[in-house]
Amino acid sequence: MIKSMRKKIDKIDKEATALLEQTKTAEELEKVRVKYLGRNGAVTQLLKLIPKVALKYKPEAGKLANALKRRLEGQLRNKYDVLRKEKEERDLAIDITMPGVSGELGSIHPISQTMKQISRIFRNLGFKVVEGPEVETDYYNFTALNIPEGHPSRETFHTFYLDSGELLRSQTSPVQIRVMEKEKPPLKIVAPGKVYRPDATDASHSFMFHQVEGLAVDRDITFADLKGTLSVFVREMFGQETQMRFRPHFFPFTEPSAEVDISCIICGGRGCRVCSFKGWLEILGAGMVDPNVFRVVKYDPEIWQGYAFGMGVERIAMLKYGITDIRLFFENDVRFLRQF
Ligand code: PHE
Repeated sequence: MIKSMRKKIDKIDKEATALLEQTKTAEELEKVRVKYLGRNGAVTQLLKLIPKVALKYKPEAGKLANALKRRLEGQLRNKYDVLRKEKEERDLAIDITMPGVSGELGSIHPISQTMKQISRIFRNLGFKVVEGPEVETDYYNFTALNIPEGHPSRETFHTFYLDSGELLRSQTSPVQIRVMEKEKPPLKIVAPGKVYRPDATDASHSFMFHQVEGLAVDRDITFADLKGTLSVFVREMFGQETQMRFRPHFFPFTEPSAEVDISCIICGGRGCRVCSFKGWLEILGAGMVDPNVFRVVKYDPEIWQGYAFGMGVERIAMLKYGITDIRLFFENDVRFLRQF
């Protein structure tokens, strides 16, 4: 009896170990447990045989059978741990080769970029960057700027009026007045921002666009200072070879006044479609501050002189980037915006 028992134990041991080796899931593992340690399992049956073994061999039979039971229990536990760990790893597994979802990165709007570039050039020349309100009063937008009652720019088809009696500024020039009211001369400022005019929208007109205003006030400022400053700006903005010319013009708040042209940056001045075969492109208005404006802000025009200028940002951006329709700036089409 003890001989066949030894054989049986050995057989169960080998068989169970091999079976456990092949086990791949918790369900299979449970079947193995039942097969050997269940109520009718092989090991359980084996243990029941011990009382029948001859007294002399009982201790050995008991020892072997119980050792087998413990060994099997241990193997089952180990296998259970291994399977559980494997399953956890499978559940957590991520495919690191799978492309991620990348966030879309925006960029600064070309008008903002151009406005910043203009401001930076003037900041390097000692100008302070300031801002003024877009909702203005008649006084700041017109009266204080020496624009008389009845001037065409005051008409409703040139200016947006609000029910409150205020208006949307049609130029950034009112910032000149606001700065001079607050600060004592000498001063040098540029004022970038939005302006509004009730123009019909087309390739070169928008009811809202941007300007950068400039103002310098000091004791001995002359037209030469204006010219020198603007020529530095023009060359920084459009390239060192760019030419500049002043054409006489009229603005109520400057005297004398001029419109400033640059040599066409497309054809270099030879004449092309962009410059209408003139070789020149108008980019800004400028002049010496009118003494009447100084009187309004209580600067003594016998002591202080100054120059002012104002430029359209869209126009400058269109020339710089070769854009032929102003509407592209405001349509929010990423295919356009992505290019800057
Ligand atoms: N404000 C003027 C315009 O909008 C431009 C300008 C500014 C001209 C300052 C002279 C001095 O046309």
